[in-house]
Amino acid sequence: MHARAIAVTTTAFLGVALLTPLSHARTAQSGEDEGPTVVAHRGASAYAPENTLAAVDKAAELGIRWVENDVQRTRDGELVVLHDDSLRRTTDVEEVFPDRSPWKVKDFTAAEIARLDAGSWFGSEYAGARVPTLKQYVERVEHNHQKLLLELKNPQLYPGIEQQTLKVLANEGWLDRRHVAGRLVVQSFSADSIRTVHEIKPAVKTGFLGTPPVSDLPEYAGFTDQINPSHGSLSVSYVSSVHAFTGPHGRPMEVFAWTVDDAATARRIAGYDVDGIITNKPDVVREAVGEEEDRNGASTGW
Ligand code: G3P
Ligand code: CA
Repeated sequence: MHARAIAVTTTAFLGVALLTPLSHARTAQSGEDEGPTVVAHRGASAYAPENTLAAVDKAAELGIRWVENDVQRTRDGELVVLHDDSLRRTTDVEEVFPDRSPWKVKDFTAAEIARLDAGSWFGSEYAGARVPTLKQYVERVEHNHQKLLLELKNPQLYPGIEQQTLKVLANEGWLDRRHVAGRLVVQSFSADSIRTVHEIKPAVKTGFLGTPPVSDLPEYAGFTDQINPSHGSLSVSYVSSVHAFTGPHGRPMEVFAWTVDDAATARRIAGYDVDGIITNKPDVVREAVGEEEDRNGASTGW
């Protein structure tokens, strides 16, 4: 719905990326400005325990379509959704397995992790919430008709996690045209990991977490659709530099900024013309900046 007028020319670069200076004005056909996509960070994690199904449901309850999560792997090879590489902060692992310090995810089996309480640390009303497997998580996102910004967390600890994650997504029906066209982005702090995802499944939209120098953006444009920086490292000119490049799917690269939880910062960052804001308080951010209707949805061609 928004206009992105190509202002100058398209120039082949390094034989991989296309350099495409663009005007990136986000203006609805009505002429009114539209806000960025709002993404619930680790689910609506200000209101429910992060990365649990309860946090996904809370986002849905608030009417938030996009949820972000973090994927890691257990000792016996199950993909689970958890942020830290240790289970200590967000579960009762210390009580259940007192002799297993430092309680790394990769040192526990899926059955052991399934015994843990991932909700009580947040609030007694969430007692009994579990660390979801990726399969369970995706099924809940599907059930809620939501969309998924999936982060491969610490991929250096889990060789082959890219292929394995894509396999789970495929098994769940998330690599069909309908999903890759508007309901899925795979992101990581590891450029190698994102490049691998792109090579294995070029149709999947990808995001790099970080702020690469502008001089490196032509290379990133070969394998990532999004550059997703911490909001503190952003500027108008950086966002506009990212938008000037065409990503691997022939569209201007996007910027999703994290983690913004207050209205004033959300308005400032939206003023940089970012495409998305990742937040623990999606209701607060949506109220502050509005949200473009289905900006990353099938109706936009994704
Ligand atoms: O999606 C952005 C954000 O999740 C990256 O940081 O540490 O919360 O995974 P972190
Ligand atoms: Ca994350």
